[in-house]
Amino acid sequence: MKIIIGCDHGGFELKEILKKYLTDKGYDVEDYGIHQYERVDYPDYAQKVGEAVAAGKAEQGILVCGTGIGMSIAANKVRGIRAALCGDCYSAAKAREHNNANILCLGGRVLGSGLAEQIVDAYLGASFLGSYHEERVRKIMALEK
Ligand code: RB5
Repeated sequence: MKIIIGCDHGGFELKEILKKYLTDKGYDVEDYGIHQYERVDYPDYAQKVGEAVAAGKAEQGILVCGTGIGMSIAANKVRGIRAALCGDCYSAAKAREHNNANILCLGGRVLGSGLAEQIVDAYLGASFLGSYHEERVRKIMALEK
């Protein structure tokens, strides 16, 4: 599975940890930055990663900022994106199973790396269940029109 990852300065440290974690697990990870610690505006990275995922350049995206909130708000403005801010494993799995999320947002100043890795595992290990969730997701996407 290909994953595009991005962050701002608040998420840089965790993004680096997750990039290595996922690469070591065999995922194809493309890093849209930041590539060194610098103060940037998170909407720029939410837009870059969101547009790439929406264009089909990767199956999933991961965005990390200080809280994950700014990234999730911004990424959800990109057409075709369903970004889920998750701070626990149950929500992460349900974001895929029920909401067919295509971007996981995490708070680098909120989560320890161990929990963040487990959340990522729960998210990537789950799949959309379809069925009656299809219609609900279709209604979400209809809100873009
Ligand atoms: C940056 O200081 C911080 O505002 C950002 O990383 C994020 O938490 C925004 O939601």
